[in-house]
Amino acid sequence: MGSGLAASYTPGVDALRLPVVPAGPRALDAAALGLTAQGDARAHGLFDRYGRAHTYLRISIIEKCNLRCRYCMPAEGVPLLPREDLLTFEEIERLAALFVGLGVRKIRVTGGEPLVRRDVDDLIARLGRLKALGLHRLAMTSNALLLKQHIPAMRAAGLDAVNLSLDTLRPDRFRAITLRDGCEETIDAIRTAAAAGFEKVKVNAVVMAGVNDDELVDLARAFARDLPVDVRYIEYMPFEGNHWGEALKMFPAAAIRARLEEQLELIPTGFDETAAMYRVPGFLGSIGIISSMTEPFCATCSRTRLTADGHFRWCLLDEGELDLRGPLRDGATDGDLAGLIEEGLRRKKPGHAPADELLSVQKAAGPGGARSMIRIGG
Ligand code: 5AD
Ligand code: SF4
Repeated sequence: MGSGLAASYTPGVDALRLPVVPAGPRALDAAALGLTAQGDARAHGLFDRYGRAHTYLRISIIEKCNLRCRYCMPAEGVPLLPREDLLTFEEIERLAALFVGLGVRKIRVTGGEPLVRRDVDDLIARLGRLKALGLHRLAMTSNALLLKQHIPAMRAAGLDAVNLSLDTLRPDRFRAITLRDGCEETIDAIRTAAAAGFEKVKVNAVVMAGVNDDELVDLARAFARDLPVDVRYIEYMPFEGNHWGEALKMFPAAAIRARLEEQLELIPTGFDETAAMYRVPGFLGSIGIISSMTEPFCATCSRTRLTADGHFRWCLLDEGELDLRGPLRDGATDGDLAGLIEEGLRRKKPGHAPADELLSVQKAAGPGGARSMIRIGG
């Protein structure tokens, strides 16, 4: 793998699917990722300097959550965002429409927990209307606890897909991981979602060594065997205050796969954005393994993010971000905002640093300096 990728890379608004590149200390090096600089970043088409088209926008709409997952947020919690710092629905709609105008085709609504935000159905309806402007797909990531009551309204508003987080089927473990109750309710909500006519329902499980690595097959069987639900296993990533390498340890993708293969036959079917996908004979749903840490997928990254307080981020694992809310409230035109987005894309690096380096940057930023996962939205 390597330079051959660059030669076959033709920029286009639809992201191309390239093979996964090995991780390691060279992950920030463009050549090691098969990327070559192809000119300056461009807002139209949302191209970065490596010709990667950013067709996917993740919008965090709230930092609050009704769970307290230890891998997601610092034990002391995150300071409550002053209400006026949160983008209003009108502001989210304006920025989302701008991004769609520039080339975004898929939007995912995230949190915190997005369903905790009041009138979230109204926001989904506003975003659903962007399909008239070129948006293809509207999705949401949620912990599913509050999902059932929202399904009819959100389906009607154009929500196509949901990613639902669940790391264990055991109530005692659920409590140990999330510091709250709700395991059975979550399982029940996932089953309800599976029958609600979504284009896709996925279950995301963060795998942590010695915490839930013995439940991987159980999770697959619980959802992917009899339901059209994909179960995806995510390598645990280091974020500000999340006990990385201390109480919680990563369980690498290769080990996840080996663990599943002890009992299931995994037939590789290619890549779905960030996940290596597998079919299991007799299962309705698929299995996915997301190796953010050991085999980063930066070479094919098509993602950008908007935080709940209106900051544009070009990489989940880079602390860089630009404020769009301030200029927006000061009367910036769409052209001004597109210029800021372009500036962010210009700063996007070819790949992310390895875990130890990420941690030292987060530590150096001091408390409240780096964003914890709950403040980015995954
Ligand atoms: N590593 C990997 N995934 C994480 N998530 C939250 N924190 C982490 C982490 N440290 C995932 C959750 C959810 C999504 C919002 O992000 O499981 O699916
Ligand atoms: Fe909430 Fe999801 Fe973070 Fe858990 S992982 S605390 S459910 S935002």
